[in-house]
Amino acid sequence: MTNPHSSDLRRSPVTVLGLGPMGVALAGSLLAKGHAVTIWNRTPSKGDGLVAGGARRAATVAEAVSQSPLTLVCLNDYATTHEILDPAAEALSGRVLVNLGSGTPAEARSAAAWAAGHDVAYLDGAIMVPPPLVGRPDAVFLYSGSPGVFDPHRETLASLGDPRHLGADPGLAVLHNAALLDLMYATMNGFLHATAMVASAGVSAVEFADLAVNWFMPTVIDATLIAQAPSLDKGDYPGDLGTMEMNANALEHITRTSVEQGIHAGQPRLMRRIAERAIAEGHGGENYLAVFEIFKKPEPAE
Ligand SMILES: NC(=O)c1ccc[n+]([C@@H]2O[C@H](COP(=O)([O-])OP(=O)(O)OC[C@H]3O[C@@H](n4cnc5c(N)ncnc54)[C@H](OP(=O)(O)O)[C@@H]3O)[C@@H](O)[C@H]2O)c1
Repeated sequence: MTNPHSSDLRRSPVTVLGLGPMGVALAGSLLAKGHAVTIWNRTPSKGDGLVAGGARRAATVAEAVSQSPLTLVCLNDYATTHEILDPAAEALSGRVLVNLGSGTPAEARSAAAWAAGHDVAYLDGAIMVPPPLVGRPDAVFLYSGSPGVFDPHRETLASLGDPRHLGADPGLAVLHNAALLDLMYATMNGFLHATAMVASAGVSAVEFADLAVNWFMPTVIDATLIAQAPSLDKGDYPGDLGTMEMNANALEHITRTSVEQGIHAGQPRLMRRIAERAIAEGHGGENYLAVFEIFKKPEPAE
């Protein structure tokens, strides 16, 4: 038996503010799932395709938000979001606002405080996929803020992808977004630098990618990151199978190889400096994961 309540919510009207590549994808996905969609964008013509597909274009932000119980805002930053929402605060009062733009935890908490001050129910969010993947059931969307706001709108948010609620602190979604992108950029840079190293001897990226991924997944992801995550939580870094001193030495070899091969050496040099800091702080006899203790604190002044 279907739940008529959740079915109503799934089809409930949604307003989308901001029609960059991501806003267009959000509105398009909602239209495709059968929601009545109202759109607003500073440059109205970017919504022409959505209007042709059945969206209603509002002339002002206040008019747009008054058409739906739930508004998604997806702009370039929080400063712009405040700029366009301030004049529409009265129209938003008593409704739900979900901010899907990127920012920092402090910006998210300040937006939540602004919303609370105007009687607006607020969720902060982060989109973990590019626009073409929006709407797929496995497209990860992170949310944070009151569960009392998230739970009744889960079905509507599921029209965009897989909604994950991380907790009541509104800063958690963008915090996780920054953490995952930190991981992504560090991993991509690691791969790109390694590929530049073998390219210096004429090895193709295609040939190296096969070797690299098949080594990296079992050795680094499975045996180290997944298997040893509990040790990070405990701060337990036994060095019986390899010490920080040994790893600093490996990083020195990587730096020297980079120089010898005539490629950029800044990245391994930075990693070597971080390992040296760990040794200076007494982690020389522990394993490499003790670098976690260095990352948990601000950088020391030069
Ligand atoms: N694209 C992605 O792959 C992706 C993936 C995950 C998350 N995100 C996040 O989604 C958000 C939107 O990204 P996006 O790719 O759609 O493009 P974007 O360039 O970050 O944002 C474009 C939107 O911001 C509006 N805007 C910029 N300055 C404005 C101003 N002063 N006043 C009013 N509106 C202004 C644009 O309006 P106009 O059209 O009038 O210029 C447009 O609606 C960002 O926070 C981004 O980090 C994007």
